[in-house]
Amino acid sequence: MNKTQNDHVQENDPAKLDRRKFLIAGAGVAAASLLPHVSVQAEQRSPEATGQPIASLGSRKLGTLEVSSVGMGVQNMHRKFTTTVPFRPEMISILREAYDHGVTFFDCAEAYGPFENERILGEAIEPFRNKVRITSKFGWNIDPDTGERGPGLNSRPERIKRAVEGSLKRLRTDRIDLLYQHRVDPAVPIEDVAGAIKDLMDEGKVLHWGLSEPGMQTIRRAHAELPLTAIQNEYSMATRDPEKDVIPLCEELGIGFVPWWPLDCQLLTGWIDVNTRFAPGDFRAITPRFSPENLIHNMQLVDLIKTWAVRKQATPAQIALAWLMAQKPWIVPIPGTTVMAHLLENIGAAEVRFTPAETAELNAAVGVIEVHGQRLPDRVLAFSAVDAPAKR
Ligand SMILES: NC(=O)c1ccc[n+]([C@@H]2O[C@H](COP(=O)([O-])OP(=O)(O)OC[C@H]3O[C@@H](n4cnc5c(N)ncnc54)[C@H](OP(=O)(O)O)[C@@H]3O)[C@@H](O)[C@H]2O)c1
Repeated sequence: MNKTQNDHVQENDPAKLDRRKFLIAGAGVAAASLLPHVSVQAEQRSPEATGQPIASLGSRKLGTLEVSSVGMGVQNMHRKFTTTVPFRPEMISILREAYDHGVTFFDCAEAYGPFENERILGEAIEPFRNKVRITSKFGWNIDPDTGERGPGLNSRPERIKRAVEGSLKRLRTDRIDLLYQHRVDPAVPIEDVAGAIKDLMDEGKVLHWGLSEPGMQTIRRAHAELPLTAIQNEYSMATRDPEKDVIPLCEELGIGFVPWWPLDCQLLTGWIDVNTRFAPGDFRAITPRFSPENLIHNMQLVDLIKTWAVRKQATPAQIALAWLMAQKPWIVPIPGTTVMAHLLENIGAAEVRFTPAETAELNAAVGVIEVHGQRLPDRVLAFSAVDAPAKR
């Protein structure tokens, strides 16, 4: 990206920054007086001493799993998709601060790093492990010993069990609260995957399971074999595909839904404009939605979000997250950040409430904007909406 965050702050309307304070959890005196439950300062925090989150964000249920209404994605904490490497102690502080502000749902995967993000999350949450819910994912073809990435996927039962052993060590825990298959393996019947998860559940190493970007038939077959707790798919104001089929199926079966890229990789936060360009290596540089010609068109959606941000005295990121939460009570977004101020802002989304009339109005306005450009490059999209082969 050729625009630094400092540049952006300087360009921002100061009035907008003032408004932000209102919904930034613990951002200072203004926010603290409005949100007394998040007024604690970082240096006063001692989760080791209390073992309790200092604030409550309110909770939601994914199937039978209760989690904070806003979760947190950990994927960028080892290496950002801009290719830079965040300062590790700061990432640990951000994760602990998230817990202090009521976040009890942290999303990770074996593939993130690979391995390194699980190590960061494991270290961060160790003092309060029993108070939070952590997820991981298996399924990419990653050598469990070396972390070397092979081609494609591998969900063979023996590989799933090896992957979980590694995840447990790196996460410094004896159980994973919610374990997802990262992508459906077209070579392994989902019944065999469910069988491996069932064995892990019998051993107490996995408590709940879910699927990410699965085909529709695979959801039904998996759920019939071993009830699913959550589907994790890309979903945001910019990517509404799951509304057609996956979310209605979740509703029918009582499965929770966890949207990844809830901020559409920063597009919905107002930090990207028509002049933003992405450096080689930044995933957005090869994602059609972020091409210069599509960005011009897609600013319609960003402008709509900014209008609502003014109306609700919130920030664009908060509107994008609150919109997701307004769709269903069993949707829990997992925004990712490597910036403390963004964490506090994102948590503040739980304070933004739409009336039913406002939700209908906003949905209608979003519905008439057609976002241009595929959500992912073809070679990545090819792994989505795949059905597992039949069990012979
Ligand atoms: N299942 C899957 O296949 C899959 C795929 C992708 C992601 N995920 C999960 O979803 C999580 C979230 O995805 P993500 O983090 O890639 O995308 P995201 O949440 O849509 O957006 C994150 C981006 O927005 C920025 N950001 C966050 N809060 C902001 C704020 N308040 N204001 C301005 N910018 C803000 C972040 O940069 P800063 O660091 O500068 O804040 C980062 O660039 C991941 O961590 C991962 O756990 C799952």
